[in-house]
Amino acid sequence: MKFVRHVEGETTLLVPRESVTVDPPPTSPVFFNPAASLNRDITVALAAAGGGRTFCDSTAGVGARGVRVAKEVEGVSSVTLVDFNDAALRGGERSARLNRVSGRCSFVLSETNAFLASRFGRDERFDYVDVDPFGTPIRHVQAALAATSDGGVLSLTATDTAVLCGVQDQTCMRRYGGSPLNNHFHHETGIRVLLGTVARLGAMLDIGAEPVAAHSSRHYLRVFVRVRAGASKADAALKGIGHLSWCPHCGEASSGVDPSPACFSCGKNARVAGPLWVGKVAEEETVRAAAGVAEEKGLARAGDAMRSLAGVDRFPPWSFSLERVCSALKVPSVPEDMVYRALVQSGHAAARTPFEKTGLKTDAGYAEVVDAVRAAARSGSGP
Ligand SMILES: C[S@@+](CC[C@H](N)C(=O)[O-])C[C@H]1O[C@@H](n2cnc3c(N)ncnc32)[C@H](O)[C@@H]1O
Ligand SMILES: [Zn+2]
Repeated sequence: MKFVRHVEGETTLLVPRESVTVDPPPTSPVFFNPAASLNRDITVALAAAGGGRTFCDSTAGVGARGVRVAKEVEGVSSVTLVDFNDAALRGGERSARLNRVSGRCSFVLSETNAFLASRFGRDERFDYVDVDPFGTPIRHVQAALAATSDGGVLSLTATDTAVLCGVQDQTCMRRYGGSPLNNHFHHETGIRVLLGTVARLGAMLDIGAEPVAAHSSRHYLRVFVRVRAGASKADAALKGIGHLSWCPHCGEASSGVDPSPACFSCGKNARVAGPLWVGKVAEEETVRAAAGVAEEKGLARAGDAMRSLAGVDRFPPWSFSLERVCSALKVPSVPEDMVYRALVQSGHAAARTPFEKTGLKTDAGYAEVVDAVRAAARSGSGP
C-alpha cells in the first residue's frame, strides 16, 4: 500500500494514497478520511483547552487524531493509539516519527474494548479518551467511560446518523434504548439520544457523564462528556434525562421528565422522542476556551463550532424551521436576520441552531415565532 504525505493542522500525516484521491475513501486495507479534519480539529482544540496530560486514541486507524494531539497539544505528554489493524498502526508509527513525537506516542495492537477494559478500576486511566469506530460507538461506551479518569473527557463519534436521526426508529430504540425524531431538529435529537444513553450506561457503573460539547455534520454526530466518579454523580447525571414532544400539526414542542403524547397546545397527537438527554449540552467555560484555542491555531471552523455552543443552553432542546413556518403561513421565505430581530424586539433571545443546517433556537413559543415571521414578511414586502 502506498502512503502519501497529507498536511492537517500543524501535522504532516502519512495516509493511504487512495484516501485522498477517492471519495468516499476506501475502508480497507486501512482507512483515513480527509473530510473528518474538522472533527479532529475540534478534538485538538478541546484537548488543549481541557488541560489533560494523557490521551487515548482508542480506534486510531492511521493515527491521524492521536499523532495530531501529540504534535499540536502542548500539555499532552503521552498518547496511546489503539487499533486491531496492524497495517494502519504501522502507518501511524511512521507519522509519529515524521513529526518527531514518537517519544510521546505508544502504539497498541489490540481490540478496543479489551484494551479499554484493562484500565477498569486501575490508576492507569486516561485524561482523555476518543472513540471513533465505524458506525455506532455504543459497544465501547462502558469500557471507555471506565478507562477515563475522574474529571477527564470522553469523546464519541457516531456515523450511524440515519439511525440516530430517525430514519430507522426501531434500530435506534434497540441500539440506544431511546426513540429519535425524524424532523427538522433531528440532529440535535440524535445527539441527545446518544448523550442520554451514555449517561445511563455510565450510571450503571457509578459514573456521571456530563456533556461538555457536541457537534454534528451530514455524516456523523459527535459528543464529548466529562466523567465524574461516584454514585451521587451518576444520580445527578440521570436528572438530565427526559422526553421531547414535537407536534407535527401545530409546530409546538415541549420537554419534560415524562413523555407527553398529546400536544399541550392543540391537543392532537405529538411525536415523542426519548428517553434522551434534555439537560445542558455545553460546558460553557470549556467551549469558550476551546474556541479561543482553535482561533489561535488558525482552526477557524472548529472555532466557529465551539463558539456556536456558547449560550446554547439558554434555549430549550429543539429549534424551529423558518421554512416550515413560512410554508404553514403560505408566505414567501423571510430573511432569518429579520425574524431574529423581531423576536429580540419582543423581549426574546434567538440564535441560529448549531446542530442543523438551518433553524432557529429561541426561548419563544411557536406562536411568537409565527408573529415574528409575519412581522418580517410584512416589512420585507413593504416599499
Ligand atoms: C473511522 S476509523 C478511525 C479514524 C481515526 N480516528 C481518524 O481520525 O483518522 C475506525 C478505526 O477503528 C478500528 N476499529 C474498529 N473497531 C475496532 C475494535 N473493536 N478494536 C480495535 N480497532 C477497531 C478500525 O480498524 C479503524 O482503523
Ligand atoms: Zn399541536
